[in-house]
Amino acid sequence: MNILEIIEKKRDKKELTKQEIEFFIKGYIKEEITDYQASALIMAIFINGMTKEETTNLSLSMANSGEILDLSKLNKTIVDKHSTGGVGDKVSICLLPLVASLGVPVAKMSGRGLGFTGGTVDKMQSIPGYQTEININTFLENVEKIGISMISQTMDLAPADKKLYALRDSISCVESLPLISSSIMSKKIANGADKIVLDVTVGKGAFMKKIEEARQLARQMIEIGKLANKETVCILTNMDEPLGYAVGNNLEVIEAIEFLKGNMPNDVKEVVLELGAYMLKLAKLGDNIEENKEKMLKNIYNGKALKKLKEMIQNQSGDVTYIEDTSKFEKAKYIREVKSTKNGYIQEINAESVGRLACSLGAGRIRKEDNIDNSVGIILNKKVSEQVKKDDILAYIYSNNQDKSKEVEDKLQDIILIEDKEIKRLSSVIEIIK
Ligand code: URA
Repeated sequence: MNILEIIEKKRDKKELTKQEIEFFIKGYIKEEITDYQASALIMAIFINGMTKEETTNLSLSMANSGEILDLSKLNKTIVDKHSTGGVGDKVSICLLPLVASLGVPVAKMSGRGLGFTGGTVDKMQSIPGYQTEININTFLENVEKIGISMISQTMDLAPADKKLYALRDSISCVESLPLISSSIMSKKIANGADKIVLDVTVGKGAFMKKIEEARQLARQMIEIGKLANKETVCILTNMDEPLGYAVGNNLEVIEAIEFLKGNMPNDVKEVVLELGAYMLKLAKLGDNIEENKEKMLKNIYNGKALKKLKEMIQNQSGDVTYIEDTSKFEKAKYIREVKSTKNGYIQEINAESVGRLACSLGAGRIRKEDNIDNSVGIILNKKVSEQVKKDDILAYIYSNNQDKSKEVEDKLQDIILIEDKEIKRLSSVIEIIK
């Protein structure tokens, strides 16, 4: 067997065997297969797709490329959460301390930004001192001690995914059903969780633009979960406009802190409550979804969820005074207002375009070695369906470069579509697939 034959086979739309997929993954990890060969194969998979069997075999090979974490010593049902990615997606930061405050043990490994989407690890690192790179033993000790730890995906678990994730990002091969499902499920299998709740985003700012594609992705991940003996629930959520108001690292962390203080944007609230209610159910802490949502709201209003976030941050060496006083977060030098040029109703705010603009301000990476500027981004002041008048502020641009912020302002004017006709706000939770 050799890699050229494998690339040729996929290039010619043929099905790869389990052995060929394993050969590729093992060879790539050992650096016997080069980045350019892996790029060719990944592009061929991106273009020609994979069968369900190939996708399952790719997930299992990637999961087995490193350690498989044993969480059984925690002696609890561990429910993990993952999102297929979005813009303004601060759900993990709101949701995980919240469910942890209700007794769901949280052992969460997150990723960095990918393509035009943000990553939870980048966001958490905007909290001064907060450690995301900690070893597995400390990670497990944290979960045992305080019931929650959120860290960066370590190289010990599913290292093949970590390498391929960065490669896909650098060769424009992210938006692929087999590649996304195997990337997510390999990590979830390696992370050792018993059950999984997945936020499958759909729309202009998601990798899956159409609902049918998102359903297929959900079904594929559920099937892989079944084979790995992990019950998986997928919540399809709308990602046409950015989630919440803030897009950019510390801006999103501040919005998440505000969320846990009870200031919840409608769309973030709907998504967080739905995902959390299923996490509680799978953790056997409540069968009734509506009652679970009530319990979650209670822990927001009584301050227990925010307290759990602080506990986690302190436990991982972060400076909790930033949570108590969010004005301490580093601020961008310039804040530019984007004003409406007419009266009407907001019809659309394309999330992918907003994500790309935030990246261009420095909130994301164009190349994988790029540094992130935590302070920059965009805060929307209006959301889809809202009525606006001429000169109303539509958004604020946080930037450290005045010329750049002017450029972004001009583009945002085109992205925020305003027309005379009234439109209805749609629910952010589209459907549940089990
Ligand atoms: N999230 C992942 O972990 N992997 C992907 O490929 C996309 C989103």
